[in-house]
Amino acid sequence: MITSAEIRARFLRYFEEHGHTIVQSSSLLPGNDPTLLFVNAGMVPFKDVFTGAEVRPYLRATTSQKCMRVSGKHNDLDSVGPSPRHHTFFEMLGNFSFGDYFKREAITFAWTFLTKEMGLDPDRLWPTIYTDDDEAFALWQEIAGLPPERITRLDAKSNYWSMGDTGPNGPCSEIIYDRGPEACTCGNPNCTLADECDRWLELWNLVFMQFETHADGTTTPLPRPSIDTGLGLERITSVLQNVDNNYDTDVFMPIMERMRELAGMSIQEMRANIVPFRVIADHSRAIAFLIADGVMPGNEGRNYVLRMVLRRAARFGRKLGMDRPFLAETTQVVIDTMGQHYVELVERGAFIKDVVTQEEERFLQTLSVGLTRLEELTSELGSQGKQTIPGDEAFRLYDTFGFPLELTRDAAEEAGFSVDEKGFAAAMAAQKERARGATRFAADNAAELYRSLDLKPTVFCGYETCDTQATVLAIVRNGESVSSASENSEISIVLDTTPFYGESGGQVGDTGYIVANDLVIEVTNSTRPLPGLFAHHAIIRTGTVSVGDSVIAQVDEERRLDIARNHTATHLLHRALRQILGEHAAQSGSLVAPEHLRFDFSHLSAMSTEQLRQVEDIVNAEIRQDAPVSTRETSLDEARQQGVIALFGEKYGDRVRVVNVEGFSSELCGGTHLHSTGQIGCFFIKSEASVGSGLRRIEAVTGRGALAFVRNHMDRLNRVGELVSSRPGEEAERVAALMQEVKDQRKNLQDLQREIAAKSVDSLTDSAVEISGTKVLTAVVQAVDVDTLRDMCDQFRDKLGSGVVGLGAVIDEKPLLIVSITADLVKRGLHAGKLAGAAARLMGGGGGGKPHMAQAGGKDASKIEKAVSNIKQLVTDALN
Ligand code: SER
Repeated sequence: MITSAEIRARFLRYFEEHGHTIVQSSSLLPGNDPTLLFVNAGMVPFKDVFTGAEVRPYLRATTSQKCMRVSGKHNDLDSVGPSPRHHTFFEMLGNFSFGDYFKREAITFAWTFLTKEMGLDPDRLWPTIYTDDDEAFALWQEIAGLPPERITRLDAKSNYWSMGDTGPNGPCSEIIYDRGPEACTCGNPNCTLADECDRWLELWNLVFMQFETHADGTTTPLPRPSIDTGLGLERITSVLQNVDNNYDTDVFMPIMERMRELAGMSIQEMRANIVPFRVIADHSRAIAFLIADGVMPGNEGRNYVLRMVLRRAARFGRKLGMDRPFLAETTQVVIDTMGQHYVELVERGAFIKDVVTQEEERFLQTLSVGLTRLEELTSELGSQGKQTIPGDEAFRLYDTFGFPLELTRDAAEEAGFSVDEKGFAAAMAAQKERARGATRFAADNAAELYRSLDLKPTVFCGYETCDTQATVLAIVRNGESVSSASENSEISIVLDTTPFYGESGGQVGDTGYIVANDLVIEVTNSTRPLPGLFAHHAIIRTGTVSVGDSVIAQVDEERRLDIARNHTATHLLHRALRQILGEHAAQSGSLVAPEHLRFDFSHLSAMSTEQLRQVEDIVNAEIRQDAPVSTRETSLDEARQQGVIALFGEKYGDRVRVVNVEGFSSELCGGTHLHSTGQIGCFFIKSEASVGSGLRRIEAVTGRGALAFVRNHMDRLNRVGELVSSRPGEEAERVAALMQEVKDQRKNLQDLQREIAAKSVDSLTDSAVEISGTKVLTAVVQAVDVDTLRDMCDQFRDKLGSGVVGLGAVIDEKPLLIVSITADLVKRGLHAGKLAGAAARLMGGGGGGKPHMAQAGGKDASKIEKAVSNIKQLVTDALN
């Protein structure tokens, strides 16, 4: 039997022999794509090569790429376990051509590899092509010698591949493997590959890459047609090892076998209870590879995915009777079986097992209590006839017992329940808000701690440079000063000198890295716990750091530049506001972040659109001037004399720093700025609103943020244009015309209803009854509005000559009734207001009015008939 490792090796060798460079799998974490959580296809590491943005020394490549599909467009998480061939982690074999060969060679290579190299029976292979790809249709006939009826045309859903909302894409051709009629699961003995049936296995996807979709929704052709193919290693292995699902291959069996031993189950018991085994086998691979690629369990993003799959696997273990940690054992099998090809597994093997054990132990402490809580909850809710776990309860399970939402969802589903996921998200957001308050409290404590360390002020060199050599002066972990800290510790670290800007004056702190030999510390924020003292809040990714170490501190320059764009723009905005609104429009606060800026200023009324435009124009004109930005130090007095803007209520030392935009603005400021205003690129005001009495807030964007903002608007406009089928530029007129049309139609409808109502008057008049010699007519009618109802009432009254009319209608879902009485009967003591009020009580309302005409509303529309017919009884009572 051929092993999965051999298949991988032979695939790579085959393509190497055909001019492809074997490229090692990239990390699971995409280096070049912020929109992707994980690499989810073999082509992802080559995305920029396809688009022409990156050039490599080869035009043909082949890989076996580590992939994860747990989110976004390609999400297979929910299928893992029940499905015989879906995975979180999997390996994708692929061959790639970057503008070199195209369809003919791609088809030839794939066909030859499968039929000649792997010896698959050609009769079992069924190519599919994209709807109108006649070229591929002809090529398949020519190359594989297949008759036309063996080639199936499928639509974009199956045969058009794109990475996600953006990125390269193109039509594709898939090779489907026919597992034979005995594998049929759809029940139709003549089923075809267009049917959803396990008989037909999608084996290999050949994508004819031709286009690129951009963030603004537009699509452009790639520089040259290219090839991206993907052959799931687990699937081809199942075919070549002649088993009917991926889990029974040598890829997963050793893991499931180990689990079976650990659970002390027989093979029959395992087969009878296969889902947990499959989930554990799948997740063990994901866990091992994620940790090997540097992901740690946590509550956000990728870290959350790791925690989620790990805890999910642990819960499935419990279903097999496991009450002790076992995932280190199953991940060890992954390391043993795959470590030869993926050496990172072996290199970080001990670490992987430590992380797994620690996380699993932590979770097991609360798992059974949490599950008991969940059981109580479902039986309690079930007895109330409810089927949904409320969001706050799901959040409690997350917060108190460490249940990821996905786990709660799984467990709830097994009991026939769903989870209010929106409610969960809301509870999560509320907690984050509370946590922000707690951080402030923590900051006060931090100041105390740093004071006690008695450190020298930090030398800040970040105005001149973004990296520097420095010495570690102090390390703080869990609120205590320590002399050293090791991998994965979350620490705060103080250096003698630093280029990291510590959060202040509205400008956020820098992020970046502190490194030395074998040491990588990721800085997630920088603050100033004491005046002049800079602290770097960080996590040690690898290595150990000790006080006295010599390190290199490197700021994330790109982010720093985005921040500088917003900071310099803030100064321009400040000056422009004062020009347009008057000198009173002074800054009272600001936030300068990489994505946007927020600027609070004094002004009594809302700014007009015209004023906002003017301000925006002034700032953008100044950007186009590309005016130099310079800084200098001076004394506070001198600065004041020169009319430099100083912020009210701000404390300045004797020596101050002046930021000067040549010919435009001068402000005291400690922030990091650009060299010239042109670097801002572009400036847009997103919003202007009140934030308290006499205080307004502007939110604005620059540079990349501005580009994203404008694109977003354009996308929305295009979408509107599409929806109303308008030509570009005529969206507003088209929408206005449509609105008018709706208005006209509504009016027509009302007229029609009035007409119908008038017609029904005649037939209803006959249904009047006599009560003690008085004609009484009651009816529930259709009426679009109160006026129509009143009109009808008047008409009835006129027809009766003398009598009582009581009409009801449901208008806008609310019940309403009107009583009208002719003057002669008012004299006999009948009172419309009293009748209407008493009748309306039956529909949960009340009301009243004059003796001859009254109207009353209610809450319960279903009681309208009862209320209206009760008027007869009320008249009877009143007359007797
Ligand atoms: N990118 C394609 C897929 O993921 C082929 O590799 O199916």
